[in-house]
Amino acid sequence: MAAAEGKIPSHVGIIMDGNGRWAEARGERRTAGHLAGLETAKHIVKAAAGMGLQYLTLYAFSTENWKRAGEEVHFIMGLVKQYLRSELDFYRENRIRLRYAGDKSGLARDIAEEIALTCEETGVYGGLQVILALNYGGRDEIVRALRRAALAGLDLAALTEAELGKFLDNPDIPDPDLIIRSAGEFRISNFLLWEGAYAEYYISPRLWPDWTEEDLRLALESYEKRERKFGGLRE
Ligand code: IPE
Ligand code: IPE
Ligand code: MG
Repeated sequence: MAAAEGKIPSHVGIIMDGNGRWAEARGERRTAGHLAGLETAKHIVKAAAGMGLQYLTLYAFSTENWKRAGEEVHFIMGLVKQYLRSELDFYRENRIRLRYAGDKSGLARDIAEEIALTCEETGVYGGLQVILALNYGGRDEIVRALRRAALAGLDLAALTEAELGKFLDNPDIPDPDLIIRSAGEFRISNFLLWEGAYAEYYISPRLWPDWTEEDLRLALESYEKRERKFGGLRE
């Protein structure tokens, strides 16, 4: 499917929300929603690659999501591992590069290793970059960046935005142009707090497992109509 004509966001972030509600509405367990949500993520990555996006950040698990039942957390982590394995061929064929955002030290070793392996294997590819945000929190990222800056010997009392920016998880990736949230909540839930300062936001009422390529296309169409001023004035 063709992308929206004209202005295409280079970097899109997605808060993939609504898996639990989707399952509950069917009288199923929350885990069934996460399984369905994984299938949606696969379709959306494919669609994003086809539409010519350069970066797609997928919010898969927040630093706060550990508050959930152990069974649900375990299931999500297992799905991520399964996803990375099952999609590797697709990533190779489509020259998609996988990257990571978050605190890897808080992940189980097998998951962290699987992520490192996939990032390494796909690191040479020049197509769409998919950034997996797992055990990610915007506040946590800023704090970790500050710690790294301090360890690197920077004078924190004189720190500039540009300097701190270099210590974020993926300093070379441009800020998101568009942040999408499914399932209708009007909140950011600790996603890309620093990077999203001037992102455009798009909230869809549709639950994540119901999302299709058409929903992504509608989000891009909405983005195309936005006027971004970054605090300045209209031309
Ligand atoms: C998003 O769906 C997935 C994660 C946060 C891991 P939810 O599990 O939050 O779904 P709802 O919000 O309960 O419907
Ligand atoms: C945000 O969704 C995190 C992810 C989608 C991974 P949540 O469902 O955790 O957010 P809240 O709790 O509704 O704010
Ligand atoms: Mg939720």
